[in-house]
Amino acid sequence: MADAPESKGKLSMADDQKPPQVATLSYGDKQIELPIHSPTAGPDVIDIRKLYAQGDVFTYDPGFTSTAACDSTITFIDGNEGVLLHRGYPIEQLASKSHFLEVCYLLLYGELPNAAQLEDFEHRVTQHTMLHEQMMNFFRGFRRDAHPMAVMVGVVGAMSAFYHDSTDISDPWQREVASIRLIAKMPTIAAWAYKYSVGQPFVYPRNDLDYASNFLRMCFSVPAEDYVVNPILSRAMDRIFTLHADHEQNASTSTVRLASSSGANPFACIAAGIACLWGPAHGGANQACLEMLREIGTPDKIPEYIARAKDKDDPFRLMGFGHRVYKNHDPRATVMKQSADEVLELLGIEDNPTLQTAKELERIALEDDYFRDKKLFPNVDFYSGIILDAMGFPQAMFTPIFAVARTVGWISQWKEQISDPQLKIGRPRQLYLGETERDYVNVENR
Ligand code: ACO
Repeated sequence: MADAPESKGKLSMADDQKPPQVATLSYGDKQIELPIHSPTAGPDVIDIRKLYAQGDVFTYDPGFTSTAACDSTITFIDGNEGVLLHRGYPIEQLASKSHFLEVCYLLLYGELPNAAQLEDFEHRVTQHTMLHEQMMNFFRGFRRDAHPMAVMVGVVGAMSAFYHDSTDISDPWQREVASIRLIAKMPTIAAWAYKYSVGQPFVYPRNDLDYASNFLRMCFSVPAEDYVVNPILSRAMDRIFTLHADHEQNASTSTVRLASSSGANPFACIAAGIACLWGPAHGGANQACLEMLREIGTPDKIPEYIARAKDKDDPFRLMGFGHRVYKNHDPRATVMKQSADEVLELLGIEDNPTLQTAKELERIALEDDYFRDKKLFPNVDFYSGIILDAMGFPQAMFTPIFAVARTVGWISQWKEQISDPQLKIGRPRQLYLGETERDYVNVENR
């Protein structure tokens, strides 16, 4: 195994005891001093860990809009400037100069690999792409019309029943094997979920192909006709994987971290992440976005949908627009838009009505005061669905493809958390607004 550097920079108790600055919280007759930590980038963080013990009070932050739940050295986002860095490297550079497996190495181990390390890593991933043959029966237990995300939640959770030798989280070697297995097998699982849904035989992985080409072939090859992978499509697929690889403490990653804080095995934690990703406010947005573009149909219908998105009494939102963190632009969306143009040109479908609708919708929304004032810009999912659709994927596969890509982010964050000596079980508190204690009343007296 190649020498894999470990991530650095944990917030130690020594740092904690000697804060460079303090914040003072006053309420009633109490004054509490809280340490302030300065990150390498981003806003300072007030450390409230001792607040309850010292002041008998909690903080209240539903949706974690102002709360850092961990310290991390993996990914940095500056939402105001539209910056996304993995281990310090800008996403635009990684998307244009690197490739997915190299980015996986970077996320997992903290540094870009040298040539030997990269070759060794790619070899290790390639050697783990096959699924235990008995897992095929597990796929066959699902209803034919099951959503591939439902299949992925089930199958990934079930991996803990097939790979017992990589579930002991206290063993660094087992953690490493679980990480490689998850990154390697996820494309096979997603491709098989797709094959099952369309009633075609499962296609085994081929280790002479790169990660993205192998995935495309497992999805689109049939015994009667092998799928010849177009390098431009493979590059576009790889770029989609790269752009979705990690995104710091988003909902699904936080879910993985919370699940792992109880000591759950890695396969259970990643299954939890997949379940969270499925929601339309998160990874499910790419499917929902293409459905919306299809529903709009033609550019002349756009004003009607813009009006609905602005109407407070209508729950409709422009899917693929807005982001909790990005308030300027989503740097991934810029690269994804270029990729969409390239792929549609290659396939000779530049006049695709969905793409025309998307471009016009983007133009109109970006000129509209509602979207400008609320800082709502197209996010990564706005264009990814168009590319995947052009490649031949059904909408139901969009979120599974996101899950394939995000697995490395989940795993990297999971590994970082597990190796944190200060790890505590995640246990938020609450602002209780229910009944105070009262006596039980027998049913005949109610
Ligand atoms: N269309 C119309 N209005 C919107 C949209 C939208 N897509 N997104 C936010 N708004 C409005 C809200 O109605 C709200 O208005 P208000 O202040 O008048 O009440 C305001 O903008 C802020 O919205 P919040 O929901 O509070 O913002 P939050 O940060 O919690 O939500 C989210 C972010 C979930 C991404 C939201 O923008 C959304 O639902 N977008 C559509 C779904 C989507 O594309 N999700 C993909 C996210 S990226 C990813 O997971 C890869």
